[in-house]
Amino acid sequence: MAQRAWKTAWVTGASSGIGRELALMLAREGCRVAISARSAEKLAEVAALDDRITAFPVDVTNRAAMAETAAAIKAQFGPIDLVVLNAGLWHPQLAKQYDAAKAINSMAVNYAGVAHALEPLIADMVARRQGHIAMVASVAGYRGLPQASAYAPSKSAVITLAEVLRLELAEHAIHVQVINPGFVETPMTAVNQFDMPYIMSAEAAAGHILAGLKTQRFEIAFPWQLVATLKLLRLLPYSLYFRVAKRFLPK
Ligand SMILES: NC(=O)c1ccc[n+]([C@@H]2O[C@H](COP(=O)([O-])OP(=O)(O)OC[C@H]3O[C@@H](n4cnc5c(N)ncnc54)[C@H](OP(=O)(O)O)[C@@H]3O)[C@@H](O)[C@H]2O)c1
Repeated sequence: MAQRAWKTAWVTGASSGIGRELALMLAREGCRVAISARSAEKLAEVAALDDRITAFPVDVTNRAAMAETAAAIKAQFGPIDLVVLNAGLWHPQLAKQYDAAKAINSMAVNYAGVAHALEPLIADMVARRQGHIAMVASVAGYRGLPQASAYAPSKSAVITLAEVLRLELAEHAIHVQVINPGFVETPMTAVNQFDMPYIMSAEAAAGHILAGLKTQRFEIAFPWQLVATLKLLRLLPYSLYFRVAKRFLPK
């Protein structure tokens, strides 16, 4: 597949971490990049680094504000060719301290935040018979893993949503991809007390994502070592899976 020519991209969750690095890379490739997150101040700092980047602060949990933001980007720069729905949060929690508020907040940001962007964008892309949608989930969405009772269900939901959209939107010439990173060094993982195998920099992660966005592949997943291990675990029957996964429980 030849390299895609995106004129205008929208990256959510671009005030820090993976989204910030990806926005800078897309801008360096000549793309006009709209960036969103809640923190207007941090977005302005990113936008100041490249004049192809423009900040559109918004809370992804606000459906009306997301529709307004999509419309504002279109009004300023024309149709959005590529959207990378990357805004997210991670609430580690042990099941014995299960907090429904964390579970609901994870769904609100990680899943509903994606849905709120999709609503206006899909309508526009179907009408234009053109568009590229990439959603950031996680390898944590493959199967139930320790401390992920709030996070993993929200990421599994995004993976399944992406599968449905890939199936249904291909006939409308819309390219749908899911991005499943392993551990990446960002403010999100700075809180983690456990080992994070094969952890990589946000810049390296953004490099993998940019390369993947230029392909026709459905899934962009990295690093391969962690992805291969977790995909192997995914194949195990439950009885075996729980025996192996138990080893990852915190001591
Ligand atoms: N880091 C990892 O190891 C890892 C692994 C797998 C998947 N991921 C996924 O990768 C994505 C990016 O994470 P990251 O590691 O780069 O973390 P990060 O540096 O903490 O970035 C998260 C971004 O999401 C934004 N955000 C959070 N809540 C928001 C809301 N309600 N509305 C709008 N924006 C919001 C944050 O900005 P504001 O706080 O300013 O709103 C920030 O820009 C997430 O979806 C995460 O789940 C990360």
